[in-house]
Order: sequence, then C-alpha cells, then structure tokens
Amino acid sequence: MWGGRFAEGPSAIMREINASIPFDKALWRQDIAASKAHVAMLGAQNIVSADDAKTITDGLDAVAAEYERDGVPEDWDLEDIHMTTEGRLAELIGPVAGRLHTARSRNDQVATDFRLWVRETIDQTDAGLEALQRALVIQAGNHADSIMPGFTHLQTAQPVTLGHHLMAYYEMIRRDRSRLADARVRMNESPLGSAALAGTGFPIDRDATSAALGFDRPTANSLDAVSDRDFALDYLMAASQISLHLSRLAEEFIIWASQPFGFVRMADSLSTGSSIMPQKKNPDAAELVRGHAGRIIGACTSLMITMKGLPLAYSKDMQDDKPPVFEAASLLALSIAAMTGMVADSTFKTDRMRQAAELGYATATDLADWLVTEADIPFREAHHITGAAVKLAESKGVALDELSIEELQAIDSRVDKRVYSALSVEASVAARASYGGTAPDQVRSQVAQARAALDIE
Ligand code: ARG
Repeated sequence: MWGGRFAEGPSAIMREINASIPFDKALWRQDIAASKAHVAMLGAQNIVSADDAKTITDGLDAVAAEYERDGVPEDWDLEDIHMTTEGRLAELIGPVAGRLHTARSRNDQVATDFRLWVRETIDQTDAGLEALQRALVIQAGNHADSIMPGFTHLQTAQPVTLGHHLMAYYEMIRRDRSRLADARVRMNESPLGSAALAGTGFPIDRDATSAALGFDRPTANSLDAVSDRDFALDYLMAASQISLHLSRLAEEFIIWASQPFGFVRMADSLSTGSSIMPQKKNPDAAELVRGHAGRIIGACTSLMITMKGLPLAYSKDMQDDKPPVFEAASLLALSIAAMTGMVADSTFKTDRMRQAAELGYATATDLADWLVTEADIPFREAHHITGAAVKLAESKGVALDELSIEELQAIDSRVDKRVYSALSVEASVAARASYGGTAPDQVRSQVAQARAALDIE
C-alpha cells in the first residue's frame, strides 16, 4: 500500500539521517592530525612498512591542502569527516590508503578528534576572556573614583564606585577561566588506540600517539574512552556559566543605556537604529548576548540529555554531540567579543551616575553608622532613627543632607553637625575601605593586582 511511495525512500532517508559530514567537517584539521600521529606510530611499530607510512602521510598532507584550498566536500554517502578523508586519500594514493585504519576505529578516531577540537576551543575561549578582563580592568582603573548608585533589588542601596562594579565582573571571569583550565586538565588524555571499544591486538604504542597530539597520557579504559563525552560537557558547563556572567553584564548595559538611567553611551559600532523611530539607538548587541546565553545553556542541556541513557560503549546518538558544542562555541566567541567591545568603547556618564547616587537616600546607612560610631548608639536603634530621618526627608522631598540640624535633632538629640560630613556620597564610598570594599583606594589596589596578573605594563 505504501510501497510506491517508500520503495526508494528508506535508503535516501538513511543517508540523510546518518550523515554527519555537514557539521563534522569542522573537525578536518584534528582528523588529519590524529591520522598522521596514528600512521607515524604504525610505521614506528612496524605494523605498516616505513614506505607505506610515508606514502600515507604525504597523502594526508595532500588531502589537507585540498581542504584548505577548496573546503571539505560534502558527500552524504561518505557519512562523516573520517570516511571523507579516507576516501579521498584512497583516490590519491590507491589501496595502500586502506592500511591507515589498522588498529583504529572511527569510535576512537572521533573521540580523539573531538577532544582536540574542544581543547583548542577552550584555549581560544580563554584568550577571549583574558581580553575581556583587560577591558574591564582598564575601565575600572579609569573609574576608581566614579560614584554611582549601588543596587539591591534594583533599588538604590549604597553608593559604590563604577570601578568596583566593573571589577566584580573581572572576578567572575577570573573564576570562569579557572573552570576552563580545570576542564582542560581533565580532558587532556588520548582516546586513540582504544579502537572500537575493547582495545586492539596490534602492538600499538599509545604513549607515542598521545604525546604526538599533545595529550598528557593515554586514557586508561577503552570502553570509557570511546563512550564518554564528559569532556564536551565540562566545556559546555563552563561555557554556560560564562554566558550567564556575560548575560548579566549585558543586562546591566541595557539598563544603564536606557533613557531613565542614562549611565552609559554605548558605542555606535555596537548599537542599531530603528526603521521607524529616528531617535532610537538600541543595545542590540547586548540583547543578543543575553539571548545567546539561552542557546548556550540549551546546548549544554541538549548534550546532557543525549548522553544520559546510553549504555556502554558507543551508540550513534553520540554523533549528535557535535552540533550543540559547535553552536555554543561560536555563540560564546561572539558574545565575548561583543562584551569586550562594549566595555572598552562605552562612554560612562559619570555626572549622571553621581547624581543618581544622591537620589534614593543612598547614604542612609552612613547616617546609621555615624550614630553608632560617634554617638555610641546600638545599630538597631540607629537604624530606627535613620528610618525616621528618611521618612521626614521623603515627606519634604529633600535629600538626607538637606534636613536641618534642628530637624535631625528633633528626631534624636544625640545628632550633631559633624553628621553632615558622613552624608555625602564621597564620604560614603571612602568609608567602605574594608578589604574588597568599594572605597577608591581599595578599587585601585584591586586594579593594580589585576593588572599584575594580566601582565599589563
Ligand atoms: N560520525 C560518527 C560520529 O560522529 C563517527 C563514529 C561512527 N562509528 C560508528 N560505529 N558508526 O559519532
């Protein structure tokens, strides 16, 4: 009944569902490198003759040169990058190409290629994050004294310095980089030689291929080596955490650039206009960084769900490991670059920030602290007195330091004129000189340490 429609169908569908070449061609450099390491080892171990090893090596170089020049051909019949390369090698050097796959399976091959790819991506991600840290540290140094409102619940809380705020992100990125470094150490073992799942009877030298590919050692269990993708998940989890930090920073820029805030003027190069509203300058890059975080976290979730029910060892489900990693890596690289530009090229409107810091009774805590230190009042009572002062100022529509001394003394007689020196935003930030606090001198010392860590000057 359905034969007419499906007679030719299944094989076409099979070819299409089976083909990973459309995406795994991104692994071609790693595939060539791993094959060259493998065949050099086969030659050294006399598993193939020295002549054959040389022919195969030269052939792989020729294939690589073609890929470099023309791109990787996409033939679904050849399924993946491994078969594509071997197929082209056979066209170039003949049947001797068939010796390359001795003592190897696509299962250890793909695990090796993919580890090499993820390792390189970790290094690139780390370099991008370092550039972002530099931008943060330089702006933080420029703005160690720039006062802005600090928020909790997005309600004005206490004055802080912009330098301090930016250095908060420096710290987040510092931890992100250490997550990447951890992942790199853990993943840097060579699966090559694990073969299909059980190892091989050929007298291979796994230490040699491991060293040739820059791994620290061969993996210790062949079943594990071909069937886990935790190295990719370690990267995706680190990438998710990074994207989350970037998204929060992007969100702050979006808020700061809004007209009611007006704290920052974003570079034109990272903004767009509106097709209908001529006055608009939209923070699209920041919004996309915020949006991309959803896709990166989604990629991590996607691979976890792919892996969670698979029995040992390899199953074809695992071919689906690559698209989420590739997508996350390219979204993350773009996001890091966008945020680096945003931090480096934005103009902070420090007057506006300072004015905003003076609104919202941001120095109320300073009044309470003054009552504790200068009038020896217990903090809870001081908090209560300050609350009354804020209530009065609010009803009069004035700032705390615009209340007269008589008005303050009517609330509590222990207040005296010296209190005004504590109520300015400058005094407030300068007072918070505890280690890691927002005082300009603290920020300068954090910036100096960060500059040393990044080798700036
Ligand atoms: N294209 C495959 C992948 O990406 C390579 C491994 C295929 N192995 C197999 N036994 N079918 O996972």
